[in-house]
Order: sequence, then structure tokens, then C-alpha cells
Amino acid sequence: MTAVHVPGPTRRRTAGLWWLALTALAIAVFAPLPYLTHSLTQLADDNGELAANYAYRPHWVQAFLYTHIVAAGLALLLSPAQLSTRLRARAPRLHRGTGRVVLACITVGGIAGLVIAPVNLAGRIGTAGFGMLAVLWVTCAFLGLRTIRRGAIAEHRRWMYRAFAFTYAAVTLRLWLVVLTPLTGDFDRAYKIVPFLCWVPNLIVVELVLRSHRHPKIIPHVT
Ligand code: HEM
Repeated sequence: MTAVHVPGPTRRRTAGLWWLALTALAIAVFAPLPYLTHSLTQLADDNGELAANYAYRPHWVQAFLYTHIVAAGLALLLSPAQLSTRLRARAPRLHRGTGRVVLACITVGGIAGLVIAPVNLAGRIGTAGFGMLAVLWVTCAFLGLRTIRRGAIAEHRRWMYRAFAFTYAAVTLRLWLVVLTPLTGDFDRAYKIVPFLCWVPNLIVVELVLRSHRHPKIIPHVT
């Protein structure tokens, strides 16, 4: 009898996925932290351009900002573990429990993100870019839930990979800003480029990866 060899992830792929997980954890901790330890006015006085945009807004807008930061931050913090095939196999109940928390966080964080999108710092381009991102984020998470409810595991995984591409926009947005701010010579100019740049390439990469691994057994995973 011939043994069927299912190829494991290559070292390069594993390294890439660890990069995704570690950068996600770093941003999930360090992006929300200033908002949890300082007031918006303190951050604004300290040259925080994004915080300055919210420091004198009505309380309800600030409430949506904080709701977004906490819920979206938690979604980003917990999502990488959900991608781990090993963890899913060893602790399926943990995967289900964490999955429910992530879906709730994406729903709350996405809706709050959609509410604050019209007052974002980038103007109309930001309203369109962040608004579309919020709608797609929540939609993919919802489709991920719907597919797993009817037992379609491979489809569930595809939708959750797409949802992660959008969750990871929080990381790529900040990486793009690090590159574009010195290139354009101005944070405000760079910020107008990122509302679409932070998620469109992520989605393209995930679609290419999913297309090249049509067989569900070899969809890449973090070990
Ligand atoms: C993926 C869907 C997301 C959407 C649609 C979204 C949308 C937004 C919007 C519209 C703002 C206001 C920006 C401005 O005023 O210019 C914002 C700010 C913020 N978001 Fe998100 N966001 C998303 C994901 C995340 C994630 C996953 C995190 C996790 C760390 C996060 C953390 C923050 C933080 C900390 C701020 C405050 C501004 C800053 O200091 O960067 N967001 N978001």
C-alpha cells in the first residue's frame, strides 16, 4: 500500500505566518494602549493627530471610538490563535469559545468603526475606505459563522481567512504609515492614501493564497 503524503507547511510559510501572528499581537497591544492610559486631550496635547480629531467631539462619538478600539483590539489579539491548525485540533472547544468572542468583537468593533468613519481624519476617502472595510469585515465574519453552522468547514475557513485579512488591516495601516510618512514628507498626506491601501492588498494576497490551495487540507496554517 502506498502512503499518501500530505505536504506540511514549508519553513518559509511557517515563518510568514508567525510574522503575521507576532505583528498582530504587537499592534493589538500597543495601538489601543495610549487610549486606555491617557485621555484624548492628553494625547492631543502630546501631538497625537488622531486623538486630536476626537478630543473635542461629542461624547457619543468618543464612546464609539473607545468601543471600536477595545473590541477591534481584542479581535486582533485573539484572531492569530484561531488560525492555528494544531490548536484547533488539540482544543476544539477553546477554538469555538474564542471564535464566538472574536465574532462578537468584529461585529461590535466593525459597527463602531462604521459609525466613526464619517468623521475620520482622512476625509471622504477615509469615509469610503474605512466604511467599506467595516462592512466587508463584519460580512465575512458573519459568513464564516453561517458556513460553520451548516458544517461547511472548508468554506468557513475561507471566510475566516478573508476576515483576518481585514482584521490585519490595523497592522498594515500602521506599517504603510511608517513607509509613506517620510516618502510624502507629511503624515496628513500619507494618511489619505491608507484607507484603501491598508486592506485591498491584504484581500488580494488572501484570495491568491486561497486560489493556489484549493484543497482544504493544504490551506496554510500557523503550527
Ligand atoms: C478592520 C476594520 C476596522 C475599521 C473599519 C476601522 C476603522 C477605524 C476608524 C474609521 C478609525 C478612526 C480613524 C480616524 O479618525 O482617522 C479607527 C481608529 C482606530 N482603530 Fe480601527 N478600524 C478597524 C480595525 C481595527 C483593529 C483590528 C484595531 C486593533 C488594534 C483598531 C484600532 C484602532 C485604534 C487604536 C484607533 C485610534 C486611532 C489610532 O491611534 O490609530 N482598528 N479605526
